[in-house]
Amino acid sequence: MAAPSFPNLTVLDHPLIQHKLSILRDKRTSTRDFKQLVGEIATLMAYEVTKDLPTEEVEVETPLETMTGRQVAGKKLTLVPILRAGLGMVDGIAQLIPSARVGHIGLYRDHDTLRPVDYYFKIPGSEVARDFFILDPMLATGGSAVAAASALRGAGARRIRFLCLVAAPEGVRRMLEAHPDIPIYTASLDRELNANGYILPGLGDAGDRLCGTRTL
Ligand code: PRP
Ligand code: URA
Repeated sequence: MAAPSFPNLTVLDHPLIQHKLSILRDKRTSTRDFKQLVGEIATLMAYEVTKDLPTEEVEVETPLETMTGRQVAGKKLTLVPILRAGLGMVDGIAQLIPSARVGHIGLYRDHDTLRPVDYYFKIPGSEVARDFFILDPMLATGGSAVAAASALRGAGARRIRFLCLVAAPEGVRRMLEAHPDIPIYTASLDRELNANGYILPGLGDAGDRLCGTRTL
C-alpha cells in the first residue's frame, strides 16, 4: 500500500539520515549510541529544514579585500524541545546554529488516556517575533505536538515548524487539522500506531531509550 501523502509533511530521505535512523531503530543500539545518533540526525535535518531561510548581503573584509557575502536575515531561531526526548535534538541543531535560543515545553503522555499532561513552559518573553522549531523525536497520536504548538501560539509565536524523527500518519493528520500552517519535517513516515499508541515499526519509547530508563 502506498504511504499517504500530507500537504504539511516533508520526509527528509537523505541517505545519511536514513542510514542513521536504521541504527537508531535497532533495539540493540545502546543508550550512548542512541543519544549520539539522535543528535547527528537532528544536525542533518537542520541543514535541510533551514534551506529556505532568507539571506541578506553583508560586507566582509577578507585579508585581501572587501567583498559582499551573505548572511541569514531576520530574527534568530528559537529551538523548543518537548521534554524529555526533544532535548536529545537540541545540541545537534545548535552545532549548526550556535546563536539559536532554547525554550522548553514539558509534556508527558498519560499512559492510559494517551493525552498530553503539561508540566513546564518557558519561552523568554521577548521571543515571540522569532522563528520557532519545536523538537520531538516522536509524533504519534499528535496530542503532544498539538498541545506544544497551541501553547507556543498562545504565547504569541507565529512562525513555527515541527521537527521529528519518526511520524505516524495519525499524528500528522491531527496536526493538519489543528495547525494546518505548521510544516512538519520528519526522517520517516511510519505505518501506524499500535493499540498502546506506539508507532509501528517505530523505535520504541524515545525518552526511555535516550535517558536509559525503562525499555519496552
Ligand atoms: C513521547 C514523545 C512525544 C510523545 C508523542 O514522550 O517524546 O513527546 O510521546 O506521543 P503523542 O504524539 O501521542 O503525544 P513521552 O510522553 O513518552 O514523554 P517523555 O519524553 O518524558 O518520556
Ligand atoms: N512516544 C514514543 O516515545 N514512542 C512512540 O512510539 C510513541 C510515543
